[in-house]
Amino acid sequence: MHHYGRTKRIRRRKQANTGKIVISKEIIALSRWMKYESRKHGFRWKCHLCPSHFSETGRGMMTKQTLSCGDLLVSIPKQLLITVETVLMSAIGGKIKGKNLKLSSQQLLSLFLLQEKSKGVKSFWFPYISVLPKSHDTYGHFSAREMYLSPPKLRAQAQRRITDMKQAYREVLDSSLGEEILYEDFVWAWFCVNSRSVYYRSAGSEFVREDGNNLALAPYLDLLNHSGGAQVEAGYNERRGCYEIRTLNPYRKYNQVFISYGNHDNYHLLVEYGFTLPENPNDVVQVDYDDVLEAAEAVFVSNMEKKQEVIAQHNLHRKLACSLEGLSWNLLLMTRVLAMDWAELQHWKSIMTGVPVSDRNEALSRQIAQTVLTKYIQQNRDLITKFPEQKSQSAVEKMLFSILQTEERMLQLTWSSVT
Ligand SMILES: C[S@@+](CC[C@H](N)C(=O)[O-])C[C@H]1O[C@@H](n2cnc3c(N)ncnc32)[C@H](O)[C@@H]1O
Repeated sequence: MHHYGRTKRIRRRKQANTGKIVISKEIIALSRWMKYESRKHGFRWKCHLCPSHFSETGRGMMTKQTLSCGDLLVSIPKQLLITVETVLMSAIGGKIKGKNLKLSSQQLLSLFLLQEKSKGVKSFWFPYISVLPKSHDTYGHFSAREMYLSPPKLRAQAQRRITDMKQAYREVLDSSLGEEILYEDFVWAWFCVNSRSVYYRSAGSEFVREDGNNLALAPYLDLLNHSGGAQVEAGYNERRGCYEIRTLNPYRKYNQVFISYGNHDNYHLLVEYGFTLPENPNDVVQVDYDDVLEAAEAVFVSNMEKKQEVIAQHNLHRKLACSLEGLSWNLLLMTRVLAMDWAELQHWKSIMTGVPVSDRNEALSRQIAQTVLTKYIQQNRDLITKFPEQKSQSAVEKMLFSILQTEERMLQLTWSSVT
């Protein structure tokens, strides 16, 4: 019986990892185009990955053979990358040069996508453009209700990014590049670039801003989904003239292959990419410095000025958070400093060892932490009660709901660690 259960579990896990090959005419056309164009430029198109549909992540890449550490996943010839050079050599690039503009690589690539999209089948890039998503679940598309249901820090993060995007759009409009660009079209292109581009260092150009946003689009390769645990070696190989990705993880035949977009928490993944990971080890509940000070004042601690000096001098006000592991190191130390009496404050450095200062200090520092946590737990619950029933939640609302539930778990666990 036990054995049967385990086998079934393993089979189910395997099924979740294995995908169904996507056989849309657009995907077939893209694969043929990659093969044909690679050969044309003297490259042999040899890719063991195959665009497939997976129940947990949607469209992604499945490997048709077992992969070992160091195996090449995909190699895209330079001629099939959309870089800022590609843009500057195109019609829109001509206008940008003619007007002597200086734009970011995200603006340039977005303008290029819009230009090529408007050409339809006449565009060289048509096979690529036709597999791009029609819309995104990222910040540019959050509804007013989704914004309202977002935890305040996530909302602020999204709002900052919306401001940046609107500014980028305004700059493009103000440069009067000719055709009218609708905001919603710009948003579509902006997010294609935001969620699909790779880091690519182009040769500097007077028409490209040196703002560290060195981006390029890599057709086909951008069908790879993210997993926090995926380890890869990725980059442009000068010698071979290709953008290459090698896996540092082994994969079984027919399983989904992942890359890592970075060590991002779910706020970042949702805002920038429109998805969240069910168990994201980078998730924490960030705690505001002011909330900790307020909690300390509520339990009547003294010598606040001196304590704030100590905290600032040693950067203890940074990285204040709690997670499934409890209070972050700095938050723990900060509550201990705030709980010190005058005599303890003279030897405040002793707390750096992590040893509790005194029974009195420990009790008071826990009380400060509890006060902050009570407030956060309450705020979190208030927000959770505002959600509509599960069946009428949008995809984004479902992700927000699960973020809040995870935060509730982190807050509760931290609460038990300080009581
Ligand atoms: C570079 S694309 C990857 C391919 C994409 N799934 C597609 O079908 O075109 C990035 C987008 O894929 C999706 N994605 C990537 N990793 C994911 C994951 N682990 N779970 C769910 N969606 C994911 C998100 O929509 C993200 O914006």
